[in-house]
Amino acid sequence: MLRIDIVTIFPDYFREAFDYGIIRRARLAGLIEIKAHDLRSWTSDKHHVVDDRPFGGGDGMVLKPEPIFAAVESLAGASRREQVPARKHVVLLSPQGTPFTQSVAAGFADAEQLVLICGRYEGVDERVAATLVTEEISIGDYVLSGGEAAALVVVDAVTRLIPGALGSATSATTESFSTGLLDYPHYTRPTEFEGLRVPEVLLTGHHAEIERWRRQAAAEKTKRNRPDLLKE
Ligand code: 6GU
Repeated sequence: MLRIDIVTIFPDYFREAFDYGIIRRARLAGLIEIKAHDLRSWTSDKHHVVDDRPFGGGDGMVLKPEPIFAAVESLAGASRREQVPARKHVVLLSPQGTPFTQSVAAGFADAEQLVLICGRYEGVDERVAATLVTEEISIGDYVLSGGEAAALVVVDAVTRLIPGALGSATSATTESFSTGLLDYPHYTRPTEFEGLRVPEVLLTGHHAEIERWRRQAAAEKTKRNRPDLLKE
């Protein structure tokens, strides 16, 4: 059982997010448990303030360290990364993080607990990244207004790698990125749609030929859409 705790200033953002598809199935099967927590519940002042002005000046507000450290202490039992137990990850989601990849997702799918801290674009006090979290992760080279959408991405990618979460055991091993290539093109009926034919080889039943065509088509599509992957 993987437990996922999300720390956010917008817990309601996640209200229905985990009620669909594979994530819902995994929850109902007892493979994962997901909870979104309001960062403000770890404040002690009357107005539940979670942010403050940046030292040194500049635009925007910065998330204060105290509520975040208190949240991780209560959720993971640690207030320094060295104290975080093995098989638990405390993750800061921010545009300054290291890239979230399929192999990072596979490591998280092996964990006992993930604590996902949603940053906001203006910033998070750097002492969180420097001393509290075990990983600082970004989902791509663009800026989101907060880490909430990134947390959904991480939960989805991780959940489908948990043994038993997918319908068939092979689904997660032949698809894009586990092979280092993009997935091959898929077709279904009708065999002709507005003059567009399904590649004939797929209609022949010659499984070895079909395999060959799929490998070739995947390589071509990777070269066209993601030449960076072929340099790996
Ligand atoms: Cl994890 N957070 C934010 N705010 N922006 C991002 C991101 C995360 N990953 C890419 N852009």
